[in-house]
Amino acid sequence: MTRKVAIIGAGIGAQHLDAFLKLEDRFEVSVICDLDRDRAQTLARPHGIGVETDVATVLADPSVDVVDICLPPHLHLTAALNVLEAGKHVICEKPLVTSLADADRLAAKATATGRSVFPVFQYRFGPGMAQLRHLIDIGLAGRCFAGSLETHWNRDAAYYAVDWRGTWEGEQGGALLGHAIHIHDLIAALLGPVARIHAETAIRVNEIEVEDCAALTLRMASGALVTSSVTLGAAENSSRIRLAFEGFTVESDHAPYAPAAMPWHFKARAPTTQAELDTALSDTPEAAIGYEGLFSEIAEELDGKPSRAVTLADGRRSLELVTAAYHSARTGMPVELPLDASHPLYKGWLPG
Ligand SMILES: NC(=O)c1ccc[n+]([C@@H]2O[C@H](COP(=O)([O-])OP(=O)(O)OC[C@H]3O[C@@H](n4cnc5c(N)ncnc54)[C@H](O)[C@@H]3O)[C@@H](O)[C@H]2O)c1
Repeated sequence: MTRKVAIIGAGIGAQHLDAFLKLEDRFEVSVICDLDRDRAQTLARPHGIGVETDVATVLADPSVDVVDICLPPHLHLTAALNVLEAGKHVICEKPLVTSLADADRLAAKATATGRSVFPVFQYRFGPGMAQLRHLIDIGLAGRCFAGSLETHWNRDAAYYAVDWRGTWEGEQGGALLGHAIHIHDLIAALLGPVARIHAETAIRVNEIEVEDCAALTLRMASGALVTSSVTLGAAENSSRIRLAFEGFTVESDHAPYAPAAMPWHFKARAPTTQAELDTALSDTPEAAIGYEGLFSEIAEELDGKPSRAVTLADGRRSLELVTAAYHSARTGMPVELPLDASHPLYKGWLPG
C-alpha cells in the first residue's frame, strides 16, 4: 500500500523527501508545505509534487494519510495536535514536543483519534546499529557494564543566524535538546531506560541563551553506567558510542549525523572469541540507513506488521531525559527517573 505524505517545512524536509523518494512503493509525497513558497517549490518542482503555504489546506485534504512535521520545535505540538484532529498520522522531527506535559497531551490525542505519532530519531537506523542489535538478539552481548557517548560538533554564528535557533523561546533548549538528543535516544533504544542522571551544562562556545556544552552521567535501569560528553565547539563534527559488554567492546563509526551508517568495530572479550563474533556479525540482517530506515519501519508499523519504528513513548522518554538533565544541572543534584506530573519541570524547563 502506498500512503500519501505531506511534508510541512522545507528545511530538513529536503532530506525526508530524499528518503521517501527511495520508498516509492510505500509512500508518495503529494505536497510540500512551507510559508516560504520558493523554498517549497525548489524541492517539489523536480518531482512534480504540489506546493502549499497554508498547513490548514493540507490538513483539509482527505487524500493525505501522513503529515511529516519538519517545523521549528516550538511549532511541533500545535501542528501535531491539528494533524491528529484531522485524522492523519504524524511523523515529527525532534524534539517531538518540549515538555513531558505536552508529550502526554499528544499521547492522549493520539489515543482519542486512533492515529499514530512517530517521532524522528533516524540515527538508530543503519548497518552499525543492525550489527549490535543482532549480537544482542542472539545473546552474544550479555550485560553492558559501562560506556561513553560523544556528541562533539561544531556550530558557529552562521548556524545561529536562523532566528529561532539559540533561544529558549524558539529552540526551547540547547545542545541537550537539539543535538545530543539523538545519541541519548540511541543509548536508551539499546540499553533500556535511564534510572538516574547527573548533568552539568554550560554556554562556552557561542553567544546564545541555551547551553552548548554538557557533561552527563547516566545510571541505566539495567545498572550500566554511561557518560555523555556534549559540545558544539569541536574542531570537526563527530559522534561516537563506545560500549563495554560482557561479550565484546563495540565502538561506533564517527560519522556525526549517521553514526550507524557504516559497520561498527567489535572486539571480543574472553571467553567469547573474535572468530565467534565475526561469524555472528556476518549474519547481520540488511538495514536501510537514517531516514530511509526509519520511514520503512513506519510503513511496516502502519501495515500492522512488527516493526522497529520509533514510538511516542520513545519520544516521551527522550524528553524525560532532557527534563531530568536540566533539573540536575540547575539544582546540582542527581535526578531519579521516570518522571511524572509531580515533577517541578513536568510542564516545561524554560527558565522563568
Ligand atoms: N533529525 C535531524 O537530524 C534534524 C536535523 C536538522 C533539523 N532537525 C529538526 O527539524 C526541525 C526543522 O529544522 P530545520 O533545520 O529544517 O529548520 P528551518 O528553519 O531550516 O526550516 C523550517 C521551515 O519551516 C517553515 N515554517 C515555519 N513556520 C511554518 C508554518 N506555520 N507553516 C509552514 N511552514 C512553516 C519555515 O519557512 C522553514 O522553511 C527542527 O525541529 C529541528 O530540530 C532535525
